[in-house]
Order: sequence, then C-alpha cells, then structure tokens
Amino acid sequence: MTLTALQLRTLHTRLLRWFDRHQRDLPWRADRDAYRIWVSEVMLQQTTVAAVVPYFERFMAAFPNVAALAAAEEQQVLKVWEGLGYYRRARHLHFAARLLVGFQGTTLQDDPAMWAMMPGVGPYILGAVLSQAFERRLPIVEANSLRVLARLFGYRGDPREGEGKAWVWAAAESLLPVTRVGDYNQALMELGALVCTPTAPKCETCPLKAVCEARRLGLQAQIPPPKKAKAIVAVQEVGIVIRKADRILLCRRQANSGRWQNMWEVPHGPIRKGESVEEAAERVARVLTRFIVKVGSVVATIRHSVTHHAITMTCLDATLQHGRFASQQYAEKKWLSMDELTEYPVSSPQRELMRKLAEAQDTTG
Ligand code: ADE
Repeated sequence: MTLTALQLRTLHTRLLRWFDRHQRDLPWRADRDAYRIWVSEVMLQQTTVAAVVPYFERFMAAFPNVAALAAAEEQQVLKVWEGLGYYRRARHLHFAARLLVGFQGTTLQDDPAMWAMMPGVGPYILGAVLSQAFERRLPIVEANSLRVLARLFGYRGDPREGEGKAWVWAAAESLLPVTRVGDYNQALMELGALVCTPTAPKCETCPLKAVCEARRLGLQAQIPPPKKAKAIVAVQEVGIVIRKADRILLCRRQANSGRWQNMWEVPHGPIRKGESVEEAAERVARVLTRFIVKVGSVVATIRHSVTHHAITMTCLDATLQHGRFASQQYAEKKWLSMDELTEYPVSSPQRELMRKLAEAQDTTG
C-alpha cells in the first residue's frame, strides 16, 4: 500500500487530533526537555508506562538535569534505578551523560552524530529523543508503533526480525510528517498502547480505521504474528547468607561480570546435578569467595525470571569458619548490618531476599 500525499496528510491530521484529545498525562510530557525525554525513553524500553512513572519521578528528584547525572557516582545511579531492571541501560545513560557534558557542556544539543556515538543510543533512542526534543525528522519503532504500522499496511511477515525489521523502519520513515514530528511519533506509540492493542484492538474508535489494511482484511488478530516464544528453562540456584556476628556478607560484582555489573549480592550460583543444596552452598561460597562456611538452614526461597530462565534460588544461612576473601567474580566485599543492606544497589531477587531476612529477624527478635 502506498499512500497518496492527500492520504498521508489526512493520516497525520487524524492521528495528531486524536493524540491531542486522548494522550495520557505523563510526567515527561510536561515539557520538551531533552534530558527528561531521554531518561523516560530509556526507562520505557521494554518496561510499561505504569511501571516507569514512579521511577522517573524518583530519578528526576535525584538527578534533575544532565549535569547532576554526570556528577553522580555510578553506585548512586544504580541505587535509584534499583528494581527497574536492565541495569546496563542505567550505566550507559550515566556514562553517556558524562560524555555529552564533557563534549558539549550542560545543555543537551541537537546533534544527531554526537548522540549516535553514545553508549546505549541505538536507532530507537536516537529517533525518540531527537524528534521529541528538537523536531528532527527521525522515525522510531518500538513494540507499539511496530504493531500499528504492521496493521496499517497489512504487512504479513514478522516485523521484529530480518527483512520485516528493515520494512517496518522504512515504513515508519515513509510516514513521517514535516511538522510536529515528536508528537506524531508519540501518537503512533500511544495509539498502539491505548487503541491498537495486541488483543481486542478498539478499531471502532481508531482515527486510522478508514485506511487500515488489517482491518479491511479482518486480519487484526494475525498481524503482527505472535512473538516466537523461547522454551522456559528451570534453573536451581543456591544463595548463601554468610554471617559473622550480626553482619552479613555482601559482595560487589566485577565491572566485567555481564549481568548486574557493579551491583551487590549475597553469593549465589547453580546447584549441580546430584549435589545437595548444602553441598552446593559450601562449594559456591568456597569458589566465589574462598570462604569456608558452616551451612545452616534454609532462610528463604526466591523465584524470579531472567529472560527465558525460571530461577529458584534456595537461600541458606551459613557462618564463616575461616578463609581469606579472594574472588574472580567479586570486586569487593562488605560485612553489613541489616540496616546497611538497604543502602547498596542490588537486583530485585536479592532485595526480596533481604526483605525476608529482615522479617525473619524481626519475628525472632
Ligand atoms: N513508549 C515509549 N515511549 C513512549 C512515549 N513517548 N509515549 C508513549 N509510549 C511510549
């Protein structure tokens, strides 16, 4: 389907009129500040609007502008991001803030080439920030606009990969208006979130219903095709709460440790086949910290998912017997009181464990 100039203008007018009436009142829509837009768009990648709002407010209170973010320590940034997941994004955002302030000063500039060089800035963030903050004619594609575009054009392939991915970015580009580009991009995403939903789309209220190919063909349920689901793999892990008097061992992961870099945790690792949880706890403690521990009882069982892994972490109490701390995996360790545990950035399952430890301590006095 190719649209005529008139159809294109009608599409822009209808979509923008709908957006003006129906857009949600979101904190990053209050003004067109590049920093606020950037932070919100990084948070919104793979996370819902509802989940992002409180994090966005908290982040802005802690780091109100790019200068404040650049001046912060990475540990502070990770702490404010704690619970949102995808911590690499927070590290990239922080590092990019430092680079941009270093190169260009504390006012973020309308400079696509500079932005494109920043860590964590791919085509989506580039288009989202520059179109909304500076009205650059750049397309964006994310889960919502991808669905709208695929249905609008009746595209039958999978727009998430290969040829389909190239198609959807080209389609997004071909539809860009000349003015109000930022609002238009947001309108496309908003339409996907509120009207052109994955199931039961509200076609009757859609401003684009007259030109929607999927609707004409009655193929809304088939377009786009469902995501290929990866098989879920169950993983058994052991976590070790090593105690010395009334303190608990917390370790910071190395900067090159893949997931959760520079974040803190109690040592944990997979249980081997044929190994008991107690044996695994002793081994994992020894391998990760060189500490010899005496293993006690189960203090918590934490379930969480990471990509396609369903992880069950059985956590055991342990007391330090002897050994000198040395680790490939951890950059440093601290012996912390229960209160101090809350000050360090940890992943959500680790935070849940700490909450359970605090509860157990409160009930035992
Ligand atoms: N998803 C990601 N960014 C968005 C935005 N600016 N508006 C609506 N949904 C979004």
